[in-house]
Amino acid sequence: MKHITIAIDGFSSTGKSTVAKQLARHLGYVYVDSGAMYRAVTFYAMQEGYITKHHFNKDGLIANLKNITISFKFNESLGFAEVYLNGENIENQIRTLEVSSFVSKVAEVSEVRQKLVEQQQVFGKHGGVIMDGRDIGTVVFPNADLKLFMTASAETRAKRRFSELIERGETVTYDAVLKNVEERDYIDTNREDSPLVKATDAIEIDNSNMTLQEQFNKILELVNSIN
Ligand code: CDP
Ligand code: CDP
Repeated sequence: MKHITIAIDGFSSTGKSTVAKQLARHLGYVYVDSGAMYRAVTFYAMQEGYITKHHFNKDGLIANLKNITISFKFNESLGFAEVYLNGENIENQIRTLEVSSFVSKVAEVSEVRQKLVEQQQVFGKHGGVIMDGRDIGTVVFPNADLKLFMTASAETRAKRRFSELIERGETVTYDAVLKNVEERDYIDTNREDSPLVKATDAIEIDNSNMTLQEQFNKILELVNSIN
């Protein structure tokens, strides 16, 4: 079986990372969470004061991008790679609603995208990679062997994300999560650089009414059909 490249794009909370992790385990592939990289840059910008509630010092962040090193380290017990910022494990700290509320603004910045896309392309150099995000099939791996585009209604997605955040112990309301999901959908699809669009050769999967198992089975079938 050849080691293919699988690009999974789509809206927030459509189950991209869940199915990507399942597939990576099943196929023995590497999974790369590109969203975690944008979240890591956002976390850095918050820590360094380039982002506050009322201001985003974009130029300050751009001037300091060279000081950001993002890496992934496989965690055996979790079964996936966690993200590190300048050597520090920040996997849990980047999943908060606060980081989610700023990340799409950071992801609009072309200099940020350029730095992260370069690193993502290195990760995918040898195939056997599953990467999820917003521009994987369009920009990062335009020649990916399989491209998926995941959708589901905003309400379904917000319910899923709300449950996740509550499970993590965050104090959030469903309305705040829905607002964040809708805001990110808007910014991600309308930005100038690498907007979220379905690649012409991507297969669209609406999983509003699919269980995780159904979604995994369907995608595995697609993988097997090209392998
Ligand atoms: O997990 P969730 O779907 O909420 O988001 P994520 O995959 O962690 O991505 C967080 C944000 O990063 C997105 O809303 C986008 O603004 C940005 N992103 C991007 O612009 N391009 C990517 N390839 C991945 C994420
Ligand atoms: O990576 P992305 O933001 O697209 O979504 P995710 O983090 O994989 O999934 C968000 C949440 O939705 C997780 O808690 C999944 O278990 C859940 N989900 C679900 O219940 N049913 C699906 N068909 C897809 C995702």
